[in-house]
Amino acid sequence: MSNNFSMEDLVSLCKRRGFIFPASEIYGGINGFWDYGPLGTELKNNLRDAWWHDTVHCPPIGLDGEPLSIVGIDSSIIQNPKVWEASGHVGGFNDPMVDCRETKSRYRADHLQVIANANGEGRMYAFIEGDEESEDRARKLLAKYEKVDALDDAYTTSLLTELPTDVFERVVGPDTKEVGTLTEPRQFSLMFDTTVGATGGDENKAYLRPETAQGIFLNFMNVVDTMRVKVPFGIAQIGKAFRNEVTPRNFIFRSREFEQMEIEWFCHEDEAQQWYEFWCEYRKNWWQKMGLSTENLQMRQHDSDELAHYAKEGYGTFDIEYKFPFTAPGFGELEGVTHRGNYDLSRHAEFSGKKINYFDQQKNERYTPHVIEPSAGLSRGTLALLCEAYTPDDRPSKVFMKFNPHVAPIKAAIFPLVNKNGMPEIATKLHEDMRKKHVVQYDAKQSIGKRYARMDEAGTPYCFVIDGETLEDNTITVRDRDTTTQERINVDQAVAYLDDKLNPV
Ligand code: GAP
Repeated sequence: MSNNFSMEDLVSLCKRRGFIFPASEIYGGINGFWDYGPLGTELKNNLRDAWWHDTVHCPPIGLDGEPLSIVGIDSSIIQNPKVWEASGHVGGFNDPMVDCRETKSRYRADHLQVIANANGEGRMYAFIEGDEESEDRARKLLAKYEKVDALDDAYTTSLLTELPTDVFERVVGPDTKEVGTLTEPRQFSLMFDTTVGATGGDENKAYLRPETAQGIFLNFMNVVDTMRVKVPFGIAQIGKAFRNEVTPRNFIFRSREFEQMEIEWFCHEDEAQQWYEFWCEYRKNWWQKMGLSTENLQMRQHDSDELAHYAKEGYGTFDIEYKFPFTAPGFGELEGVTHRGNYDLSRHAEFSGKKINYFDQQKNERYTPHVIEPSAGLSRGTLALLCEAYTPDDRPSKVFMKFNPHVAPIKAAIFPLVNKNGMPEIATKLHEDMRKKHVVQYDAKQSIGKRYARMDEAGTPYCFVIDGETLEDNTITVRDRDTTTQERINVDQAVAYLDDKLNPV
């Protein structure tokens, strides 16, 4: 990823080229929801399929040198509401929120910073962390009304949650000029609820799942009883999750409907630490394999006050983080690898009254397995791929998308140089041969330069051009997206050429 572009540039390309659109756009959109267009859907599906392949069909080699045993499931989005009581989401899955009484805006309390005169006197100005415009506004107000120049020693910043509540009346909210309009932080549930069946009422209330993980825990015994699996083994799932995020933002980074790719790795408690380290290492390398560069990825251990309610004390969570343009030079979460202990299986056993455990015949031991959970965002991963690929350049399109060919939405384009002289016939035949194996596009419209530009913005790694020479010697040109260099190959070798370039890594 080059750093010389803004999110506006990327969002605009995504809309212009059919990667991602705001949901319900013709009605003014709906905050926190997005639609994937034709190219975005291909990109996301490629990432999804690579994960499924590398997790379920061809899982990694484990600690004993043997391939891991992982099976896939696809569970329901809506489950019995007791599931979410047992999991701790009802009652526990909250964010601390602050409301502005004047503007009716609502903010995550732990995302609000306050800027003030260094001596702590006078008005204080709140802004949204990571939001340049909001911070700029607060600084300007401080300079104007408190006469504090933005010199390092003249002001202080702190988190709103760290302020004593009696100074709240001196705080100016991020969207107002008045003091004292912000409420104290209050808990706000992130669970989306719905009603099952025709009759309303609380007894028919159900929830859209906030994580795919619980569907896996619910099916642990079903899998043990039907699949002849032995601990350690994993269950994987990809699917939608829903969270009524208070401040959805940064494009698809934090949305209210998104997709997760989760593995629950069941193991004996004594081996959990080794597996935890294994998964942290493996998952970071996997993102690199998808094309994210080393310098844009980092591992970060959660501080103890950030841990989710299910994370095992003393082990906790490692986040795999990516340097998104809106977090740079900092990093934002892409995937969490958590040691969940046996929290979930034990809670479901307790709440359902059913036996949920595992009998190891060799050791003659019955126990509740511990769980290591690599939980990745498919939507957030797609955003990371888009950010990594966006490459400003001085070519006519001014930008090209440098996707790893394995995830690129279109693998190759086939162009007849002109739409006559036998060229379209050869191009059509090549297109027919290639499309049986790969996602390729035929394009005969407009100048060759415009066609290259379209493919550069779509991130298509190879363009095959049938020209005058093809008619004489059966050769065609292949243009490389990244270097724009061209080479000539025999048209009969073109399919093998593309196969070779797209060989699995
Ligand atoms: N089962 C564990 C779990 O759900 P999480 O850290 O809350 O853990 C896992 O979520 C991943 O799901 C995150 O690393 C992120 O990639 C993705 N994710 C979570 N909330 C999201 C949101 N509102 N929008 C997009 N992706 C989200």
